Amino acid sequence: MNEHITKIDDTILDLFRRAKKITFLTGAGVSAESGIPTFRDELTGLWKHYDVEKLASEEGFVNDPSLVWGWYEWRRAKVAAAQPNPAHLAIAELEKRFEVTVVTQNVDDLHERAGSTNIRHLHGELNKAHCIQCGDAYTHKEFVFTKDEVELEQARIEPPKCRCGGYYRPSIVWFGESLNTDVWEDSVEACNEAHLLIVIGTSAQVYPAASLPYNASLKNVPVLNINPEENNFRYLVPFFLKGKAGDVMTRIMNQL
Ligand code: OAD
Repeated sequence: MNEHITKIDDTILDLFRRAKKITFLTGAGVSAESGIPTFRDELTGLWKHYDVEKLASEEGFVNDPSLVWGWYEWRRAKVAAAQPNPAHLAIAELEKRFEVTVVTQNVDDLHERAGSTNIRHLHGELNKAHCIQCGDAYTHKEFVFTKDEVELEQARIEPPKCRCGGYYRPSIVWFGESLNTDVWEDSVEACNEAHLLIVIGTSAQVYPAASLPYNASLKNVPVLNINPEENNFRYLVPFFLKGKAGDVMTRIMNQL
């Protein structure tokens, strides 16, 4: 049954009142109010302006490592200059009252910086990199802003090299690559065993992440979807709060 509720009424509040374990599945929309572009929004989405094949695939990296490293450094700079917004802060605040797990498709660190402690990064992290040949983990130096963000966007920056001679690449799950098995299994468990799964700010177009709410609802986990648009879940999830992540989470926090 679909219930499109825009008001935070007792039906919604009861989902929280009955829950001890709450899992969030977050997507780019949760960071939108921090000024981080989403991927598929018509006007501002990254994949509307940049070539996925060139920037988010191993083949693209091998063909032009400096283009790819420069682009991810630009994104890292953008995130470093951003602040967690009321949605990140509310999710972190809920840890005081519930067992909260955040399963995120986001590669930024805004959940961490808001204070969430139990986070699974399904698609990797902008602040991590590893050698494309031997897998050695790279530690980013403290970010030094020698260029402003706009310049960085255009920048080609040669990636650092590992002792084995291979380039370090961003530890982001690129198209055609598998998710980390441990992170995936933990995420499945966190969604399926939650008393409430809150899906927030995702278009639900990328699998396997998008399968998590479907599978959880098959296990009778109530799913609450928060999004300003009606996304792919509208036919499957029972509860839909239409609105921006920060606004809706603030209204929920005020009423809990
Ligand atoms: P998308 O760009 O596909 O979807 C963003 C969603 O956020 C849309 O449903 C918007 O309606 C919604 N949205 C926009 N502003 C919002 C706001 N203020 N509050 C709440 N929601 C808002 O981003 P994802 O679903 O996260 O993968 O995309 C999934 C994956 O596709 C990403 O993790 C990335 C990309 O390719 C990798 O980088 C591996």
